Amino acid sequence: MYVNKYHNRKPIILEPGLSIMALNVNRFIDDAIAEIKRDVSGRAIIGLSGGVDSSVCAMLAHRALGDRLVPVYVDSGLMRQFESERIEQLFQDIGLVRVNAHERFLEALKGVTDPEAKRKIVGETFIRVFEEEARKIGGDCLIQGTIYPDRIESEGGIKSHHNVGGLPERMEFKCLVEPLRDLYKDEVREVARALGLPQEISERMPYPGPGLSVRIVGEVTKEKLDVIRKANAIVEEEVMKFCPWQAFAALLGKATGVKGDNRVYGWVVAVRSVTSRDAMTADVMEISWDVLRRISSRITGEIPSVTRVVYDLTPKPPGTIEFE
Ligand code: XMP
Repeated sequence: MYVNKYHNRKPIILEPGLSIMALNVNRFIDDAIAEIKRDVSGRAIIGLSGGVDSSVCAMLAHRALGDRLVPVYVDSGLMRQFESERIEQLFQDIGLVRVNAHERFLEALKGVTDPEAKRKIVGETFIRVFEEEARKIGGDCLIQGTIYPDRIESEGGIKSHHNVGGLPERMEFKCLVEPLRDLYKDEVREVARALGLPQEISERMPYPGPGLSVRIVGEVTKEKLDVIRKANAIVEEEVMKFCPWQAFAALLGKATGVKGDNRVYGWVVAVRSVTSRDAMTADVMEISWDVLRRISSRITGEIPSVTRVVYDLTPKPPGTIEFE
């Protein structure tokens, strides 16, 4: 059984044999701010992706450090449609710095097909960009929004989450501060609401740090990224109204199809939509046939190079939520 010091109210049953106590949000916020003040003596960088974890972490760190905090958004080219612009808008008040690193990530991922290698490369590339930004401001501390399940999955050898097992062995940073390390996702959302973050952030669907790179099976290329970014946007548009835990598209490979009178050897896109409580396990979401048919015809109609769309029927376990 996992218990941490903030869990001092009614128990929540996560799965048979595993329960936690509900979070005392205000005490958590006070303690996290105190911890950041104690651990950071100079200036610090926070990696802000716009997801609920890093946004909560950035708000706590901003309260603790004010101008001594520089939030950095690395535009990796692996993000969803229009996401970078939106994040820039939302966090301009706390001095967000946006770094364009599209080419750098593509170059680093070139020819790499192994999923764990991809995660490690993404994790390392993020850190190298953060180090460069830290040097510019004379900071030696990195703050990250790592949460409890990221650690469990990395330490349990399931996946090296880019911000835990995917971190490089050597980093220039003298300190790494992770104030959310003991929280589950739904607890992070509670903290987000208490901090007054907009609903668009507090209720945001989880999105993996390595982004679209773990939604492309095999090598990541610019062409594949463009295809999957569009397909992903269609899936989100059609499925978000049913409140899934996560809903997205992944690129599997190529297969033969017919478009007009022509044979086309095009991309196979998988649609995945799951329900979950904490991402440790997940169930396939039941979606009506009409919606599935509309998704399929929109993806093949709006993206000429896609010939086939499939719906993933695998729960976790034995599948994982992401494909890589
Ligand atoms: P899996 O695929 O392991 O995913 O079932 C569980 C949850 O974690 C997210 N995920 C990641 N998040 N870095 C992250 O920040 C990662 O490397 C990573 N891999 C998976 C995934 O989207 C799901 O919510």
